[in-house]
Amino acid sequence: MQQKTFLTKGSAVAAVDVGSSKIVCLLGQVQDEFGHIEIMGHGFRSSEGVKNGAITNLSSAENAIREAVHMAENMAAEKLKGYPLRDVVVSVSACHTHSSFIEATVDVRGETITKKDIDRGLVKAQYQILESQDAELIHTIPAAYWLDGQGGISDPIGMSGDELNMNIHIVMGNTSGVRNLAAAVKRSHLDISALCVDSYASGLACLVDDEKDLGCIVIDMGAGVTSFSVFQAGRMLLTDYVPLGGAHVTNDIAQGLTTSFAEAERLKNLYGNAMSTSSDTHDMIEVMQIGDNNDVHPHHIPRSVLVGIIQPRMEEIFEQLRAKLMDNGVTEAIGRRVVLVGGASQMTGCRDLAHYVLDKQVRLGKPIGVSSLPKEMNTPAFTTVAGLFTYLGRHSNEMPAEIMECGDTRSLWQKTKVWLQENW
Ligand SMILES: Nc1ncnc2c1ncn2[C@@H]1O[C@H](COP(=O)(O)OP(=O)(O)OP(=O)(O)O)[C@@H](O)[C@H]1O
Ligand SMILES: [Mg+2]
Repeated sequence: MQQKTFLTKGSAVAAVDVGSSKIVCLLGQVQDEFGHIEIMGHGFRSSEGVKNGAITNLSSAENAIREAVHMAENMAAEKLKGYPLRDVVVSVSACHTHSSFIEATVDVRGETITKKDIDRGLVKAQYQILESQDAELIHTIPAAYWLDGQGGISDPIGMSGDELNMNIHIVMGNTSGVRNLAAAVKRSHLDISALCVDSYASGLACLVDDEKDLGCIVIDMGAGVTSFSVFQAGRMLLTDYVPLGGAHVTNDIAQGLTTSFAEAERLKNLYGNAMSTSSDTHDMIEVMQIGDNNDVHPHHIPRSVLVGIIQPRMEEIFEQLRAKLMDNGVTEAIGRRVVLVGGASQMTGCRDLAHYVLDKQVRLGKPIGVSSLPKEMNTPAFTTVAGLFTYLGRHSNEMPAEIMECGDTRSLWQKTKVWLQENW
């Protein structure tokens, strides 16, 4: 059964993905009570003031975000005239976040379990986290339920029992990373109503239901960060990252071939391969090299030299991913299948290398099920931003602020709310 959304039908909503290589804004309108959003405007441009997933220059980042937002606003102006912008969801790089699990017990005293009881458990868990840690809550996702000791319950609503135990996946954000991101977005006069980890949004946009149910790992290969999220039983169970991405590959090429970053990027995208092939030694490519006097001159090299620079870095990324998955106890049963998204996954040979290093079934992904997504955004690099709308429209029950609204409202939440209003 589809869940009803907290969004108001007809209202204008926005999604902003602040990446290390590009900033994207989507503006849309809520179509129905199930949270379907039609895209009305979009804008994107290259990033500035963002490196390896973090804000490094607030005013540059702010200007770049504002420009992307303005592009989307201009495009949507006619259609959204008179509709106030209500809810804005922003991506947070997984490099600022941390996944953990917490238990909560709810006394139900033989009554039928309702959504309120679940919310009580989630609120309890959130208080526990807020009281013990200086971190921002980003996602609160129920992972497993036990009713009077009986496990394997996927949805306890409507059942009855005495004691409901919940295992809850909490994603927290590091305070400075999140606040700087929020500050950069806020100056575009957008009031953030939710944050979403980039790898989670990507998973929501590229996975089919069976993959989410049976178990799947989504790997989002960006410019500065390779993030991943693990899904099973329809829920996200983990998010983590490796601090390397496509920009590190480009840097290696620029250094290895004594060329500019822009030329290295061109060579990577045109001739790059994550795995060497037998024809690489015969294929010659032209490189604009920087000479001793800073003059630029063409030089011809075998393609194998380029691939010889790319492959070790791509292997390193997948080896670090494999180690992270093992450290996090992602077993064979959960993660037999991998979906690759993000701009850097477009490199030729990436799927084969991922299969070789991770020893899993691998497919390439891109946004699916977003009917109004512009054609030029129907590529792996725009998976995160597409997923942000899915999150906003259909996952409000995992947003800490919405959960607090549904649960009780004691002093700590009042304090948090004041902080949110002042700082976001
Ligand atoms: N055809 C291609 N082959 C290889 N790499 C590519 C290709 N097209 C784009 N890329 C790389 O994809 C990366 C950008 O990916 P993406 O747009 O997903 O990053 P981002 O979301 O801005 O960054 P991050 O998520 O790391 O903060 C760049 O490093 C770029 O070089
Ligand atoms: Mg990204």
